[in-house]
Amino acid sequence: MKSLETLSQKKEKISMITCYDYLSANIISATDIDLVLVGDSAAMVIYGYETTVPATIEMMEVHVRAVRRGLSGKPLIADMPFLAHRKGLDLTMGAVDRLIKAGGNAVKIEGAGDSLKTIEHIVKSGVPVMGHLGMTPQSINQFGGWKVQGKKEQAADKILSDAKELERAGVFSVVLEMVPSKLASTITKKINIPTIGIGAGPHTSGQVLVYHDVLGLNPKFKPKFLRTYLNGYESIKNALNDYSNDVKNGTFPSKKESF
Ligand code: KIV
Repeated sequence: MKSLETLSQKKEKISMITCYDYLSANIISATDIDLVLVGDSAAMVIYGYETTVPATIEMMEVHVRAVRRGLSGKPLIADMPFLAHRKGLDLTMGAVDRLIKAGGNAVKIEGAGDSLKTIEHIVKSGVPVMGHLGMTPQSINQFGGWKVQGKKEQAADKILSDAKELERAGVFSVVLEMVPSKLASTITKKINIPTIGIGAGPHTSGQVLVYHDVLGLNPKFKPKFLRTYLNGYESIKNALNDYSNDVKNGTFPSKKESF
């Protein structure tokens, strides 16, 4: 297993993927993927909500436990859900405690600013923290939709200075979501910890995508930054129809499949 420390050295590109369940974690364990995230995107891809805002600590804990049981040989990062680090230090540390005891090796927290002190405290408590800047989905209501962030100079400077502050606070890596490639490249050059991009172009230290998106399970979701590696929707639909047809035409189960 590559440790978070090894991955932090920025020597090779880092591949990261989300995961929410035991069997998918089994599959990911057999791949070359470096890092696994139980993302609060679970609220969308598992529970069907329109945003990540409805994710709760209870929801995240259940999925971290399931993934932990199926995952071997890779660090597991658990997302702190909406407001989980904004309700005072005691409640924040309680949430971190739940995610780490459920099997996380690190937590991911969106934003910087006045969360930096909290992030520093979590790191000093022995829990590695991954930062997340740019189009941070938990702030969707402030952004007014899924929009590329940091297009204007002032906004770009803010994201860069937030990345530097996060590095100072001790995070081991920063996700950059939906920012211009040029900005992601500048940030990657100006900080010493790895950047993990999603919709941030090719110059970050690594990339992250959502498991269901990589496998093409939702044909309606086609953002510009996504590359799918399987037509999972069609493949699964066809397999289910084959099963249904076999039941209806009496070819399943066969003698061999019967007692
Ligand atoms: O929740 C999530 O899946 C994420 C990644 C897309 C970075 O935050």
